[in-house]
Amino acid sequence: MIPDSFKQDLLNRVDIVEVVSRYVQLKKGGANYLGLCPFHGEKTPSFTVSPAKQFYHCFGCAAHGNAIGFLMAYAGLGYVDAVKDLAAAVGMQVPEVRAPGPEEAARKERETDLYAVMEKAMDFYRAQLRQSPKAIQYLKQRGLTGEIAARFRIGYAPDDWQALKSVFEQYSESPLVECGLVIENEGKRYDRFRDRIMFPIFSARGAVVGFGGRVIADAEPKYLNSPETPLFEKGREVYGLVQAREAIRSAGRALLVEGYMDVVALAQFDVGYAVATLGTATTPVHVSKLLKLADELVFCFDGDAAGRKAAWRALEVSLPLALDHKPLRFLFLPEGEDPDTYVRSHGKEGFEKLAGEAQTLSQFLLGELRSQSDLGTAEGRSRFLAAARPHVQRIAAPALRLQVLKAVADLAGISQDEASALLDLRTPPSYRTTASPWVEKRPAYPLEWKLLTRLFARPALAFEIDRTLLDARLPESAALGELIGKLAEVDDPERLTDALVAELVQGMRHADVLSNAQATLLELKLTREEAVSEFRSVLEALKAREPEEERILRSKVLRGVASAEEASRFLKKVQQNPAQRSKN
Ligand code: UTP
Ligand code: MN
Repeated sequence: MIPDSFKQDLLNRVDIVEVVSRYVQLKKGGANYLGLCPFHGEKTPSFTVSPAKQFYHCFGCAAHGNAIGFLMAYAGLGYVDAVKDLAAAVGMQVPEVRAPGPEEAARKERETDLYAVMEKAMDFYRAQLRQSPKAIQYLKQRGLTGEIAARFRIGYAPDDWQALKSVFEQYSESPLVECGLVIENEGKRYDRFRDRIMFPIFSARGAVVGFGGRVIADAEPKYLNSPETPLFEKGREVYGLVQAREAIRSAGRALLVEGYMDVVALAQFDVGYAVATLGTATTPVHVSKLLKLADELVFCFDGDAAGRKAAWRALEVSLPLALDHKPLRFLFLPEGEDPDTYVRSHGKEGFEKLAGEAQTLSQFLLGELRSQSDLGTAEGRSRFLAAARPHVQRIAAPALRLQVLKAVADLAGISQDEASALLDLRTPPSYRTTASPWVEKRPAYPLEWKLLTRLFARPALAFEIDRTLLDARLPESAALGELIGKLAEVDDPERLTDALVAELVQGMRHADVLSNAQATLLELKLTREEAVSEFRSVLEALKAREPEEERILRSKVLRGVASAEEASRFLKKVQQNPAQRSKN
């Protein structure tokens, strides 16, 4: 854990606009900056960065956080790494890490449990493989050596509904379900993976976080993967990274392929620097993770239409991440081949020869763009320019961007200056502001929402709220309840900065509502004093909203003059309110 005082200091010195701008093109719009959200696909910007409050918020997907959170989410850094990265940029030294608090320790312990469960399951599957002639036969027939199967810790899940019961005494307890190894359905529990070749997925630190299981028989789905669990997030992990890391370093190259079998086959043929996505599209986390390890990243896709489509997605994700000194390439295999089949028939040399001919990012980008327009006509060239514009704008690496600009100008038959002006590279495009969905679109937003938004002007205001006055059916009320509980754990809520609050709401159950409310206060453009005074007016309005009868009841209870029946009626009302219940 990093001391709060250091974190506060750091967040005061760092400029979130500068940090985000390294990856996302931002344009000033009023007091805030706007851009296309890097966390979901969108065409009109709803991603807002506030220099005054030092946090970002997306009104489209509710991504929310401060500079630390941004680096974690975007660049895939761990918390401590993100802090170190920011500190280095402003010349601060991160103090020695202190021991985790009790809550942190409890969470760690729980995770350690889950890691241990996964490890034990892997050992079990490996032992099962040794005892299954059928599974061994399958792997042999696919050309795998015993050595490579051992290197990737490949195993076998037997054809049995509760095979894991033989090694887990706690089969009927939650960890196995939480790890995604056991499925619970209508009170019955059974193994998720049955009669499948098991590929363990390791985190960058070398812990088993998930499995991919391939059928032996002809059944659907061909591959079954672990679900998302507290340990496993598909978009953040790559298969084979632990085994490939050394080879990536020494080759200076990483190869991103699509399948488990591809990684394993390539490794067997001494192409050790291959890793795979896990049945998902390429994410920015994948790309930035690999670019940190390698000088060159090669994406490898099948030569068919699906492969080209997946490659285009990878390109779009990579444009802002490409670096001038680290080229990205796209390798398309001949139709009907995948890396597994190709390396088996052409060997390491053949495969690397093909990889050496892979298209560069700019070749692929321009090739695709020009194939969509007829450059022989003025209209076609204009269309080409229009199509190129958003892509060129998203290239962050300056030299690469200039090169692509030159090529675009050449192809379109115009000068580089003309292209630069047309593509709006000097002045960022004029973004249309998307309004906060809550403020504008909700016809009559409740007092609870108003309370919640104004609260972010000074979070300690939360303690002034009487939760029995809130309408318990509203998400805002539940969110307020959770926030009050969380703030009660903070040492000095009066000293919380906006950036720290943005981080605080993140791990919470009602993060969506809370982060939306915090961002909405930005849009409202109130001064702190105005917001606080509005907050107090809402409190008054809440009291006035309460029916006369209830107000009398409350006041009787509070003054200690209520009858037993009245007291129980009041209690009942309070207990209907989940926010209140969680406090008691
Ligand atoms: P492919 O269908 O290309 O299979 O899926 P493959 O890798 O060539 O596998 P083999 O050679 O038939 O054994 C590529 C990747 O897509 C994911 C897996 O990660 C797989 O490795 N996938 C595929 C799934 O997650 N589920 C599926 O049903 C199929
Ligand atoms: Mn294959």
